[in-house]
Amino acid sequence: MNKGWHPVALSTSIEPGSSAGTHIHGREYIVWRDNSGVAHVWEDRCPHRGMKLSFGFVRGDHIACLYHGWQYDTTGRCRYIPAHPDLEVPATITVPAFAAVEAMGMIWANIEPEAHRSAPPVGPGQVVPVRSLYVDVDVHTLLDVLRANLPLPFTGEGETSIAAAAENLWRISTTDESLLAGIQALGESRAALHLVIEGPASVYAGAGQAHYLGWTTLLRQMAESRATATRAEAV
Ligand code: FES
Repeated sequence: MNKGWHPVALSTSIEPGSSAGTHIHGREYIVWRDNSGVAHVWEDRCPHRGMKLSFGFVRGDHIACLYHGWQYDTTGRCRYIPAHPDLEVPATITVPAFAAVEAMGMIWANIEPEAHRSAPPVGPGQVVPVRSLYVDVDVHTLLDVLRANLPLPFTGEGETSIAAAAENLWRISTTDESLLAGIQALGESRAALHLVIEGPASVYAGAGQAHYLGWTTLLRQMAESRATATRAEAV
């Protein structure tokens, strides 16, 4: 379940100096970006008393826990404890940090040990973000609903098709356009779809984004209606 690369956010949703909490298969992670722009994905738990680090503060190249202010560098190692400012912090106090890359307008994480990791995703340089859609359904239901309700093209007419492009990534192709949908399994009954349009902002920013944004709203309604109907049948 935890194998492979997982899309955990749109790149544009994590600004330098900011963080967000997320889940992969029910486990909690923090996605944060240091002030130089590098993205990091860690376990979302301070080794001191277990506070979520995503509640903390990014300060330059480190992140400070909200609770007692312990500070961690970009490798996850604790470097400063405010209550003991002169202490040389033991190297054993670290937050588990995972492989993270950016490709196709998304931040990707791999939580497997290095020896078991597949090659990281790579992709086109020019993409236009649409949104991250969070829905209360499992990934399989989300994919079924996605396949059954593909978007109409932004321009032109014709068929729309969908095909797997990589681990946890689908390419949705219309006559003239191509979208990439990264699917994230947040938990057993919650999933996220990170959607970007392949192509230049000069063509797709604005009306193109609005067109596919409207479609994602419909998609969420259909997915959650399906989940509600499935639950009702089960009662
Ligand atoms: S819980 Fe994080 S510093 Fe205490």
